[in-house]
Amino acid sequence: MPLTFDDLLDRAGRLARGGRRAVLGIAGAPGSGKTTLAEHLVRALNGDGAPWVARVPMDGFHLADAELDRLGRRGRKGAPDTFDAAGYAALLRRLREADGDAETVYAPGFERVLEQPLAGAVPVPPAARLVVTEGNYLLLTEGAWARVGPLLDEVWFCALDERERVRRLVARHEEYGKSHQDAVDWALGSDQRNADLVAAGRDRADLVVPESALPRVAGPG
Ligand SMILES: Nc1ncnc2c1ncn2[C@@H]1O[C@H](COP(=O)(O)OP(=O)(O)O)[C@@H](O)[C@H]1O
Ligand SMILES: [Mg+2]
Repeated sequence: MPLTFDDLLDRAGRLARGGRRAVLGIAGAPGSGKTTLAEHLVRALNGDGAPWVARVPMDGFHLADAELDRLGRRGRKGAPDTFDAAGYAALLRRLREADGDAETVYAPGFERVLEQPLAGAVPVPPAARLVVTEGNYLLLTEGAWARVGPLLDEVWFCALDERERVRRLVARHEEYGKSHQDAVDWALGSDQRNADLVAAGRDRADLVVPESALPRVAGPG
């Protein structure tokens, strides 16, 4: 039997039964469906009850454009060295250590229209027993990214047929305002270099999520 979305719900739910707050990572190339999968997992696990699962996006740790300009890296926004990897690892550590504390931990979000990080956008309440964090570089072993893996209870890797992934990525860029040509150039240029870096981490994942287990949603295009 191919793996289903319900199997993923069971597996994620089991992670949270260890008595302490668990952190599940979802990695994958740009456009592979990480954010969509994480959103569906969190929604399905929380159901109508009090939220006990929170989603924390790695994208919240994008450096701001002003800092990318200062560093001369704006042209490759989205590459591993255009994020605050050490800050992301520190937040994951804090989320684990704050288990049992009474205060909400705030994570930054990413604003897709402005394409800028936004502090304080993502609350993780004390009641969160499971944190689902998702992004491109969870399985990288270079520099500060190497601190991320050991802070995750499991890492799942979104694997999608390459042509379909690129098609969705182009459609998403267009949805957020790029012309068709700019969307294609970005998806096959900058995004593709990053996708290749991400693919190299696939073998370190605990689970490769097959297409059969991805949520059924009406995608772009
Ligand atoms: N399971 C799916 N079925 C159809 N379309 C999807 C699915 N998952 C994601 N998409 C679409 O593909 C695009 C990229 O998905 P997203 O979750 O943003 O990927 P990532 O976070 O990995 O970059 C989005 O526009 C989304 O609507
Ligand atoms: Mg995403």
